[in-house]
Amino acid sequence: MKQIKKRSKAKLEKAHISLRVNGEQVEVAFAPHKTLLEVLREDLRLTGTKHGCELGECGCCAVLVDGQPVLSCLALGVALEGHEVTTVEGMAEGTQLHPLQQAFAELGAAQCGYCTPGILLTAKVLLEKAPRPSRDEIKEALGGNICRCTGYIKIYEAVELAAARIAGEQAEPAEESIYGWQ
Ligand code: FES
Ligand code: FES
Repeated sequence: MKQIKKRSKAKLEKAHISLRVNGEQVEVAFAPHKTLLEVLREDLRLTGTKHGCELGECGCCAVLVDGQPVLSCLALGVALEGHEVTTVEGMAEGTQLHPLQQAFAELGAAQCGYCTPGILLTAKVLLEKAPRPSRDEIKEALGGNICRCTGYIKIYEAVELAAARIAGEQAEPAEESIYGWQ
């Protein structure tokens, strides 16, 4: 009987950490074995970050930790004490979409959308480091993000469109990007 009591107490023990998420200081308690992906989705209700392979191979769970892309399925939640996490929910400013989100919407670069949060955040870091990346640089930066729907071309075009707009150009999507070759 004593042993049963001991076990159930151990089961109730939770990790308790404080971190910044999308610019807000938050405190969260969770089972200590949980990954950052699980903490975000299940304990903080930020479901924009997606479950995919959970093996570090698809990139759809990518978030930013202290400004760098991290696969949240491979990070333990307890390791995030005191860190800054950005998820796709933190990209827009109020009602103003991030230029990447706007370009993805205009070009149809998000189809089922499952890969999109991880790609948007990874591309955001790319544009911070290389404001006008070449097509090859975009491909390389997004090499760890798998998309089953788009064939990638619209994703690359959307990153280029966002880069042009962030640089102050009045850039619009090419007609063939939206309507195809007539
Ligand atoms: S779910 Fe994390 S890399 Fe696939
Ligand atoms: S839009 Fe469906 S997986 Fe990329």
